[in-house]
Amino acid sequence: MGGNWKMNTTRAEARSLVGELLAELDGLRGVDIVILPPAPWLADAHDLLAGSTLRLGAQHAHWERAGAYTGAVSAHQLAGVVDHVLVGHSERRRLFHESDGATARLLSATLEAGLSPLLAVGETAGEREASETGAVLRRQLLAAVEGLERLDGRVAVAYEPVWAIGSGESATPSQAEEGCSIVRRVVAERFGPEAAARCRVLYGGSVSAANAAELALLPSVDGALVGGASLRAAEFAAICRALAASGAG
Ligand code: PGA
Repeated sequence: MGGNWKMNTTRAEARSLVGELLAELDGLRGVDIVILPPAPWLADAHDLLAGSTLRLGAQHAHWERAGAYTGAVSAHQLAGVVDHVLVGHSERRRLFHESDGATARLLSATLEAGLSPLLAVGETAGEREASETGAVLRRQLLAAVEGLERLDGRVAVAYEPVWAIGSGESATPSQAEEGCSIVRRVVAERFGPEAAARCRVLYGGSVSAANAAELALLPSVDGALVGGASLRAAEFAAICRALAASGAG
């Protein structure tokens, strides 16, 4: 389970949201929970989460270790603060013009830094209408793992149809199942059946307390990447519990 806060919360709000999440979710079994606050609050969150079962992730990082990259934070710098790095979220691809090549460099750098990448892939509404969903998922996924000889068990993939993100219009269960099963099939073709069985595949896009239980029951869905609803502790906790109860996570 991932909770992507995006560019939301003040420092005080972030601290209090972490506290609420700890009260609701610390120790919950059957699901691995990662929260992804904005970069300036990661150190605070790291300290507040110490000793808990909740893990921490960064929403983005730069692949170079260090150097003249004004405004950037490297995966290497984040090691010791976070456990996970989100790679290739569609907002990064669309708003910040991140290419498939950039996702590949960040995914490799994340692994080299000893962190776990959560790779996001997904088609736009236009690509879906043009029946290009499978081709787009295949292209994004294969490009991101291009440099890898084997798929490290730390790599998780989130299928996030772009049209479902922040729209309140989640994919239907059959669309979510189809997208996640395409992801797993491409992983199997590239890295073999064992890697595909081990790889965690998440669905993301308008996941809420209302649809989480249904999504969690889908055979190809191991978890969920949640945006808007992850800013509301009670709702995020309800989603995590639905995942834990289904055995999916
Ligand atoms: P959403 O965002 O849950 O607000 O649709 C999902 C995401 O961007 O990962």
